[in-house]
Amino acid sequence: MTLVDHYAVFGYPIKHSKSPRIHQIFAEQTGQLLEYGAQEVPAEQFPTAVATFFIGGGKGLNCTIPLKELAWAYADKKTERAQLSKAVNTLALQPEGSILGDNTDGIGLVTDLMINHGVNLAGSKILTLGAGGASRGLIAPILEQSVHSIVIANRTIDKAINLASEFHHRGTVTGCGYDDLKNQQFDLIINATSTSLSGELPPLPEDLLAKNGLCYDLAYSNEPTIFVRWGLKNHAAKSLDGLGMLVEQAAEAFFIWRGVRPKTLPVIELLNSERNNL
Ligand code: ATR
Repeated sequence: MTLVDHYAVFGYPIKHSKSPRIHQIFAEQTGQLLEYGAQEVPAEQFPTAVATFFIGGGKGLNCTIPLKELAWAYADKKTERAQLSKAVNTLALQPEGSILGDNTDGIGLVTDLMINHGVNLAGSKILTLGAGGASRGLIAPILEQSVHSIVIANRTIDKAINLASEFHHRGTVTGCGYDDLKNQQFDLIINATSTSLSGELPPLPEDLLAKNGLCYDLAYSNEPTIFVRWGLKNHAAKSLDGLGMLVEQAAEAFFIWRGVRPKTLPVIELLNSERNNL
């Protein structure tokens, strides 16, 4: 009998998740025998659903919106980057039976920017829009790249200031509101708000993007997101969406579970070509 290890992504909603496809391609590419499913799990059912999954022999889970904070609370142990981000997107069964929580989103973004797009973040002035869970997970991995500074701008200003203060000891991070961005310029603007999903944009002043600056939307869709279009209109050298980050965070989770690093570029190219042909 062949034993197949089981993995899954939990989220709500989950129907359009690309994770099962991405992990199946990784498994084929690396010769790993595994199955990866998707399960719709409302927040109130999360602890029971996770316990049932691992008792049933599951080896690892990805958790997505709106379950990342619950996954953080569920994990028996957490990596430092998960601890800092207060959100977990990867749960991994450990040999002694405990559940390790990690957050691979931030490293997924950094890898996509630096390796796939050849961006050198050292010395860059970075603006992050939004101060929710998505933004929180990025701050430490970006600061590790010796950036000049990170400004966190948010509609609710207190949240930006509080989030920034948690990272003061790690680098130059400040929080502010959108009005405070006037007359400032940034080399990289990251949209970590949930606005792209509803087709809105935060109120961004003119001339926010430095010459040859970049825009990156954590959201992705088959059409360019409203923030990707804002970047193009504002002469970004590149205006990217989060498809590359999605594949990179998945590869990091795959590595945690299987100890093997899949090749990500062919998967990003495949998913990109599929959406371009729609
Ligand atoms: P996530 O975990 O995806 O970050 P979240 O914690 O709900 O989700 O955070 C959503 C972020 O998008 C917040 O920064 C939110 O701003 P507030 O903190 O002021 O609520 C931001 N956001 C959502 N809708 C917005 C809008 N219409 N304009 C500006 N910011 C918005």
